Amino acid sequence: MGAPLRRLAPLAALVVALPALAWAGALDERLAAYRAAGAGPFTAEAGKALWGQTRTVAGEAPRSCPACHTADLKARGKHVETGKPIDPLAPSANPDRLTDGRQIEKWLLRNCKWTLGRECVPQEKGDLLTFIAGQ
Ligand code: HEC
Repeated sequence: MGAPLRRLAPLAALVVALPALAWAGALDERLAAYRAAGAGPFTAEAGKALWGQTRTVAGEAPRSCPACHTADLKARGKHVETGKPIDPLAPSANPDRLTDGRQIEKWLLRNCKWTLGRECVPQEKGDLLTFIAGQ
């Protein structure tokens, strides 16, 4: 009786851990991909600095991440050009955030190009996501 039960114990531990893994899956998977590309370690400090970086385009309002997402990531944002509302980016205020890897990549690509004038490299994406995930 004892031996079969002991063999089942690791399986039971896995079943208990699965829901937590599913939640953190998309973010962890992205960070792992950036590490595989040679980036890391990632810090919220570096992400925050990039988040606040402002680029000036002649004749336009300054471009930065908070220009659309506001300085408070737990607050609703507003698209600086279209005025369309944007749901909060902070996972603590919006549990849907950072749960879909394709969505994360799509918007990082668009938003880095628009805001910084170029794509973000894996190190920057890891730093930005680490900062956002902690909000
Ligand atoms: C011109 C407006 C605008 C700017 C500037 C902007 N974003 Fe966004 N961002 C959006 C919109 C619109 C969406 C998609 C709509 C939504 O998800 O609510 C979005 C979505 C995202 C998402 C997807 C999150 C998820 O999992 O759903 C991330 C990550 C993100 N932005 C990060 C950034 C970062 C980092 C910057 C600065 C480099 C930035 N954004 C600058 C408008 C902007």
